Amino acid sequence: MNAKDFTYASATADIEAPMRQSDTSMAWSDARLLGFTPMDDVHEEFYEIVLRLVTCTDTNALAVIEEFEQHVVGHFEQEDEWMRTTNFPPRDCHIEEHAAVLKSVCEVKAAVESGQASADVVRDFGTHLFGWFPGHADYLDSALAAWMTKQTMGGKPVVLRRTI
Ligand SMILES: [Fe+2]
Ligand SMILES: [Fe+2]
Repeated sequence: MNAKDFTYASATADIEAPMRQSDTSMAWSDARLLGFTPMDDVHEEFYEIVLRLVTCTDTNALAVIEEFEQHVVGHFEQEDEWMRTTNFPPRDCHIEEHAAVLKSVCEVKAAVESGQASADVVRDFGTHLFGWFPGHADYLDSALAAWMTKQTMGGKPVVLRRTI
């Protein structure tokens, strides 16, 4: 692959999730809470770091993509572990989607490291992640949050959202 071939689109070709067109906002809000606090806390952190991706510069692009990589490795490993240790039935496609995103992160990081990609690719990647996340959360994480709450509390989550 040469520099011209590398785009965020090639790096994210495998991670298209059903997208909620009305919700590509870059702001975290209580509307995103799924009712399982350990997961909600990590999702809020995801929004903070992805915002740094979309506002990065050539000076800090590599540091920010490395920070994001560290976040998603922990984020996805935790969810994968919850699914495996509790035998969550529909876990395979969720685990596969995590793996596809991680692969894209590695590709973007490698392209920045080698000078094939500059900050605009990282910013585009961040924008793509903001578009991807609501679908992933709605279709996959929300089911896991409900399952985990049932495992630990014996019932479905009750989500208390502040109205602002
Ligand atoms: Fe998640
Ligand atoms: Fe997930």
